[in-house]
Amino acid sequence: MHPTSPIVLITGASAGFGQATARLLAAQGCHLILGARRVEKVQALADELAQAHGVRVFAGQVDTRDTASVNAFVEAGVKALGGLNVVVANAGLASGLHKLWEIPDEDLEAMLRTNVEGVVKTLRATLPHVRQSGWGHIFFIGSTAGHQTYEGGGVYCASKHGIKAMAHALRLELCGEPIRVTSIDPGMAETEFALVRLKDADKAKSLYQGLEALTANDVAECIRWSLALPEHINIDEMIVKCRDQASHTMAKVNRRSV
Ligand SMILES: NC(=O)c1ccc[n+]([C@@H]2O[C@H](COP(=O)([O-])OP(=O)(O)OC[C@H]3O[C@@H](n4cnc5c(N)ncnc54)[C@H](OP(=O)(O)O)[C@@H]3O)[C@@H](O)[C@H]2O)c1
Repeated sequence: MHPTSPIVLITGASAGFGQATARLLAAQGCHLILGARRVEKVQALADELAQAHGVRVFAGQVDTRDTASVNAFVEAGVKALGGLNVVVANAGLASGLHKLWEIPDEDLEAMLRTNVEGVVKTLRATLPHVRQSGWGHIFFIGSTAGHQTYEGGGVYCASKHGIKAMAHALRLELCGEPIRVTSIDPGMAETEFALVRLKDADKAKSLYQGLEALTANDVAECIRWSLALPEHINIDEMIVKCRDQASHTMAKVNRRSV
């Protein structure tokens, strides 16, 4: 049975989609377990949401690349809130834009360890609690990069194709249990993502110049909607792009002159 106030764990809650999802779900009455490396941002968000919506919010530091960190965060959050129903395995990043034969180890490891291993570690730690709760919903955050590839994006695309594979496998593994599995796969969305990837504020800004990109809130709304559907309905995969982005890559993007 769909609980009236589900307990939702979100990784990457210090910025972007994770932060926006926490805001939107707190406004719906969900209790939250929020984590990221920048714990002061997560703590400030937790304080704000608890006060504004009267929900219970646990804030913790987590580095999803690290097994001990993930396990400690999940255990502390579940203990504080008394259970877990929904997981938004959102923490992720792109690092650099390198051809496959040029990518430094630092970028290679950052993407594979966060986007693939980090998601596995998050789900490995949370799924026993979700299964025990008797009702659940797992959200992967994939990408249009999990459906197409582009030059300089080989490793990021591989990581997001990996998300697609894991979401499909998990849905097979959980079939028959009251747990839904959804992958939200956005195109261009204006968050800290491009700044983290390009490490240059001007370049990051110019990526979105002249077009109306998705916002973090738009992606959060996709999660809210999928979660609110009657429980026999499972959105497997939601590819969501702004109207100005016609192709999965940036090959066909409408830019108005500014
Ligand atoms: N924006 C886009 O265009 C876009 C499109 C498709 C998919 N996505 C995917 O959406 C997800 C969220 O991206 P976003 O756009 O919201 O980017 P963002 O604004 O940069 O937020 C990324 C979040 O992930 C957290 N994070 C990164 N590495 C982490 C780690 N090792 N441990 C814990 N938390 C970590 C960051 O927190 P800390 O730095 O504080 O740890 C931050 O809260 C990612 O998986 C990304 O690949 C983004």
